[in-house]
Amino acid sequence: MTDFDTVDYFTDPALVPDPHPYFDYLRAQCPVKRVSQHGVYAVTGYSEAAEVLRDPALFSSAVAVGGPFPPLPFEIEGDDITGLIAEHRAKMPMFEHMVTMDPPQHTAARSLLNRLLTPARLKENEEFMWRLADRQLDEFVADGRCEFLAAYAKPFALLVVADMLGVPESDHEEFRVALGADRPGQRVGALDKESLASNPLQWLDEKFSAYISDRREHPRDDVLTSLALAKYPDGSTPEVVDVVRSATFLFGAGQETTAKVLGAVMRILSDRPDIQQELRDDRSKIQVFVEETLRMDAPVKSGFRLATRDTTVGDVEVPVGSVVMFCPGAVNRDPQRFTEPHEFRLDRKNFREHIAFGRGVHTCPGGPLARVELRVSVERILDRMLDIQVDEQYHGPPGDRDYRYEPTFILRGLSDLHITFTPNP
Ligand code: HEM
Repeated sequence: MTDFDTVDYFTDPALVPDPHPYFDYLRAQCPVKRVSQHGVYAVTGYSEAAEVLRDPALFSSAVAVGGPFPPLPFEIEGDDITGLIAEHRAKMPMFEHMVTMDPPQHTAARSLLNRLLTPARLKENEEFMWRLADRQLDEFVADGRCEFLAAYAKPFALLVVADMLGVPESDHEEFRVALGADRPGQRVGALDKESLASNPLQWLDEKFSAYISDRREHPRDDVLTSLALAKYPDGSTPEVVDVVRSATFLFGAGQETTAKVLGAVMRILSDRPDIQQELRDDRSKIQVFVEETLRMDAPVKSGFRLATRDTTVGDVEVPVGSVVMFCPGAVNRDPQRFTEPHEFRLDRKNFREHIAFGRGVHTCPGGPLARVELRVSVERILDRMLDIQVDEQYHGPPGDRDYRYEPTFILRGLSDLHITFTPNP
């Protein structure tokens, strides 16, 4: 039995399969609770999380990804550390990516992205998604069984981001192999998977630097060219490296998260025949199904902010320099906001109010894209896979399932999901 008073949320594997009893325990004590480890303030209440996320001046994103790790590269001094954060930012993890920036730098970085994620682009991207979903399913549907993450979720999520960024389809297979999203055991062409996958970010950086430099020299009528020629709001042209960072960060931000929700979608479909049947009978319920999956299985498990001044959240005093952790999965099950929060309900009225995509200036810009990915996938999966079931050989019988989750405090998602089904080619 885990002692929630002393358990280390950041490292204890006991909390990995199901962190919700721990989140409930924290919230029951206080929706803003200072945990014993690393002096972090854990926010599990809905309105308290919104308070934090809506005030980037008081709650800096400088520590958004790593939270208390590594420790701050400076001593807390004075009653306002905004200047200290600015001075030492370059020593903090992922400082070059917009997720850790604060306004006004964040506003400029985000404007580049907004040029890319336009409704028109999203529409073209959706057309690609329908084709891609079928292409992915063609690879394994006839087998009547699969490990769903490798067979579908990972390559699908990866190639959607690649297409959205305008990576030519002729290069897609190279991306799939280089970023390790291919099916186990499958090798494509002459690429050496191990050497590429050993540093996929560097590989991506090099690939996109080449694309962007090429499009600046030889503009074409394609998405990479609009990315390469995008300017900041003041009319200045970003360095190639800044454009490349915006692009490559999307693979990290958009691929793993969506793949994890696709895994959750399939776990629910295969574990809940009643829900699977309800969706087959009435496809209009797919939207609420997708939102309810995001609420129940938010893939971002913890995000972080740094208090720039002494303040309060809810009624709790939070001193300057404190790391504040918001847990979307916990917030999405706050009973003050969601009735029967642990129940998956297709008749939930406020299903859009979850914070799986965050809130405030850093709200996920990929939300609309991810929602389309999930809807398209569910539609084509229901069309082409009948009677989907959890493979008991791997996960045990109903009521005593054994699912393995990735052992990290940052993201929540299955490590693997084995299913069986009747092909409907
Ligand atoms: C279901 C899938 C996804 C979920 C649940 C999700 C969740 C989130 C969350 C919670 C944040 C806010 C982090 C914070 O406030 O510190 C975020 C930021 C971000 N997401 Fe997503 N995301 C998903 C998919 C995507 C996709 C598909 C893309 C792009 C193709 C994307 C790109 C980004 C970017 C660039 C940021 C940083 C935004 C900023 O700092 O202004 N995400 N995401």
